[in-house]
Amino acid sequence: MTQRIAVIPGDGIGKEVMPEGLRALEAAAARFGIDLTLEHFDFACCDYYAEHGQMLPDDWFEQLKDVDAIFYGAVGWPDTVPDHISLWGSLLQFRRRFDQYVNLRPCKLLPGIKSPLADRKPGDIDFYVVRENTEGEYSSVGGKMFEGTDREVVIQETVMSRHGVDRVLKFAYELAQSRPRKKLTSATKSNGIAITMPWWDERVKAMGANYPDVAVDQFHIDILTANFVMHPDWFDVVVASNLFGDILSDLGPACTGTIGVAPSANINPDGSFPSLFEPVHGSAPDIAGKGIANPIGQIWSAAMMLDHLGQPEAAQAIVDAFEAVLAEGDKSVLTPDVGGNGSTETLGRAIAKRIG
Ligand code: NAD
Ligand code: IPM
Ligand code: MN
Repeated sequence: MTQRIAVIPGDGIGKEVMPEGLRALEAAAARFGIDLTLEHFDFACCDYYAEHGQMLPDDWFEQLKDVDAIFYGAVGWPDTVPDHISLWGSLLQFRRRFDQYVNLRPCKLLPGIKSPLADRKPGDIDFYVVRENTEGEYSSVGGKMFEGTDREVVIQETVMSRHGVDRVLKFAYELAQSRPRKKLTSATKSNGIAITMPWWDERVKAMGANYPDVAVDQFHIDILTANFVMHPDWFDVVVASNLFGDILSDLGPACTGTIGVAPSANINPDGSFPSLFEPVHGSAPDIAGKGIANPIGQIWSAAMMLDHLGQPEAAQAIVDAFEAVLAEGDKSVLTPDVGGNGSTETLGRAIAKRIG
């Protein structure tokens, strides 16, 4: 039976790393005899907006709702479309309408990459950020009054529901329970954000009663960011609200040398809608068009997608391949962010070749 994959490159380096993500995906599919049908979509990018005045066609939900997974590059081109319009018109719609309430973001120091933190080696940094992905600080509740006058008022509410928070906490506890260290860290700010965050802490505690074998701690987000830098080895699974998780999932990979390698899985765990796989990074206008973006974030996202589609061996083959190519350290192959003078394509091809 074929698995339908919606392919959406997006903007900027999204268009450059996507071919390498597909190259790895197709190499793994061929090696493991997986039947994939790639369906290419030209929407959810700023070029589409330029032509149509919106990021998505009116029937996008119908077009995508029955695919088995969505493979996305990166979206956003702030020179032509304001970011809140392009992002709320595409990626954030997908996450909400397909109820992808878990954003799972591994953070791992890979072989051959130098961490900017002193004396860190592979094994020292190896954790997951589990980010709430459909509500929280990313709410559309709010508005403006007296716009343009000196009485201007701007309000945006944080929305946390028991349903929404408990389900992502459950996922995080289960992930922690499945790992050898069985450790969960909660990102909070209950000293300053005095309504939602003390309540978040209560929900973390209540859910913990179901997982007595998981050790739980919590840090306020300010010192938590400091501890990511000073003690990344403390962390195993970190669960966070939408905004805190966003920040932590750039900071974590930065501690592993580059955000260019970081993948993410926007998961609808009950499978009623497709899940979406994309690198953590954005469209990187500063390097777009130069062919030097690191494709590993996209390639690792392909591995997470295969894992989600019930193909763990193929997923592992991709991870093994990029780890081997990084460990080899051939500068002519690696991209500049990891110390090389190669290109997106040289690195992508080397990884695909290694997959077999
Ligand atoms: P960004 O992630 O695009 O870039 C941040 C920095 O990291 C830049 O210096 C960039 O060159 C570097 N970088 C990113 N990916 C890299 C890679 N693969 N290899 C090497 N270097 C890499 O973040 P930004 O500059 O804040 O945002 C640019 C645009 O992307 C904005 O429109 C933003 O809204 C959008 N964005 C989209 C997503 C997404 O689609 N999921 C995520 C983040 C940002
Ligand atoms: C990410 C991105 C998005 C987010 C933006 C582009 C809306 O930063 O996927 O991390 O904040 O979720
Ligand atoms: Mn982000």
